[in-house]
Amino acid sequence: MHPMLITAVKAARRAGQVISRASLDISQLKVNTKQQSDYVTEVDKLAESAIIEILRETYPNHAILAEESGSSGDSQAEYQWIIDPLDGTTNFIHGFPQYAVSIGLAHKGVLTQAVVYDTTRNELFTASKGGGAFLNEKRIRVSKRAKLEEALIGTGFPYRSFVHIDAYLAIFRELAQKTSGLRRPGAASLDLAYVACGRLDGFWEFGLSPWDMAAGALLISEAGGLVGDLKGEPNYLASGNFVGGNPKVFAQLLQVIAPHLGGKLG
Ligand code: IPD
Ligand code: CA
Ligand code: CA
Repeated sequence: MHPMLITAVKAARRAGQVISRASLDISQLKVNTKQQSDYVTEVDKLAESAIIEILRETYPNHAILAEESGSSGDSQAEYQWIIDPLDGTTNFIHGFPQYAVSIGLAHKGVLTQAVVYDTTRNELFTASKGGGAFLNEKRIRVSKRAKLEEALIGTGFPYRSFVHIDAYLAIFRELAQKTSGLRRPGAASLDLAYVACGRLDGFWEFGLSPWDMAAGALLISEAGGLVGDLKGEPNYLASGNFVGGNPKVFAQLLQVIAPHLGGKLG
């Protein structure tokens, strides 16, 4: 394993301990609302501090972009860690066991290391650029399903911003009819990990943040899948609009999405 990935795994496991401990008594959770339907708990913050402490110990000169504390470190640094300490907070608060720690590393803007850790199932997804993707150290690959009508597709419903709800629902309507099923598990990083290991054949969502996608996107690419924005171009981290899947399903998702693009959605 690449030394930077080893450090990321150590950090993800430490955050996982914080999350697992807290999950034993969710009635004790103090929940704050950041904005409509956007929650944060002490667990998000404690998990994030634990991750940053471990990364900083080994890589004091790297930049960090983390959901709860924002950007820190040298903004000119070649390396940037992109962290979601608890992806799926709404699920976590409800005791709905679908949430994960997500840590990605970009080198000069290119994703090079990825960890997504599901503490509820003890599933550790990892990838290094050029080195493949793994689930608990076993090689994973995207599914081989080629027909959209046989595909199981993940998504995230809009729940905070509704600017593009009509376009989203039009795509949803079409895919509900053209696929074998749609799922909204509620933790984007884990949804992408599921595409990487073939549990989902594809995924799309609008309005994500870089920390929701960074690690998962590398997992998909390293598992032989394709990722992009709504046009299939590489701008997804900046636009927040993401499509991913096995190569055949990815192309068909883009075809369904294309007629619904326009205005600010691209
Ligand atoms: C959210 C989850 C969710 C996705 C949202 C994200 P959070 O992350 O990944 O699945 O639909 O867009 O913001 O807030 O739980 O870390
Ligand atoms: Ca998130
Ligand atoms: Ca989060």
